[in-house]
Amino acid sequence: MTGVTGIRYVRYEAPDLDLMERFLTDFGLIRSVRTETALYMRGTGSEHHIHVTEWGENARAVGVGLRLDDREDLERIAARAGAAVEPSNEPGGGMRAVLTDPNGIRVDLLWGQATLEPLPVREPLILNDSKKARRLGSLQRPARGPSHVARIEHAVLEGPEFSAAVGFYCDLLGMQVSDRMYADDPAESVVAFLHCNSGAAYTDHHTIAVAKGGTSGIHHSAFVTLDWDDLMLGHYHLKSCGHTHDWGIGRHILGSEVFDYWRDPFGNQLEHCIDGDMVNDQHRPGNIALVDETLSIWSPPPNPAQAPTA
Ligand SMILES: [Fe+2]
Repeated sequence: MTGVTGIRYVRYEAPDLDLMERFLTDFGLIRSVRTETALYMRGTGSEHHIHVTEWGENARAVGVGLRLDDREDLERIAARAGAAVEPSNEPGGGMRAVLTDPNGIRVDLLWGQATLEPLPVREPLILNDSKKARRLGSLQRPARGPSHVARIEHAVLEGPEFSAAVGFYCDLLGMQVSDRMYADDPAESVVAFLHCNSGAAYTDHHTIAVAKGGTSGIHHSAFVTLDWDDLMLGHYHLKSCGHTHDWGIGRHILGSEVFDYWRDPFGNQLEHCIDGDMVNDQHRPGNIALVDETLSIWSPPPNPAQAPTA
């Protein structure tokens, strides 16, 4: 079985959709659909939406939407989980099965959703380096403004049911372990980075990560910017808008992304990232200690609010 082939969106609830949309627009997302009770934001890529906010009295993280390319996979996994396959009642349509992972996080399995025309953006910048000048006779002038988020890359899900959650994503949904982290005992993981089972084709180092935590929820969700300068431009744009910076800029070790973490107005942590590792079935999982030094190759020190996950 192929199982899950990607992440489509993260889903939150918030008491003020206007406030959320203002932040997400500054973060580099674009409105796809807004209804009376929900906000669907897209990137510049073809996904119909990559961030959902439903109105709710109390802000909370709800779950993730995961893509299946094979309808039979959807039917089979839903049957194993005892969930119904039904037409989605949300923009983009398609079929879905709504599951709950062992930490109580909602997992929408999705097949056949509509895609959109990608939005026009500039080409990623060509960078000169010390060995080779690749940009000859043209000037480097990316425009100031928000980042151009292309797509969602991953979500880190936390909760007390760590082993059961890893089993849910690997055994039921078909994902593979990329790397593990441990606190004290190398045999006892506290973080597992999971990639989609894409065979020989390359896929993101982690589409989902599971982290052991006291409370269940989305630790953070991560969105890919156009290029390195676009991440930096977005950083200064968000700063100029007065938003709350969380951690970065730095480069992770596991996954290797250049990262920049922000808080939305309701305290959810969102990451801009670029230049993450791609893995395939030749990848062999590693297991490293979880300490500040293994969170990044370079960065400012993690702040106390930054739970130790990548
Ligand atoms: Fe991340």
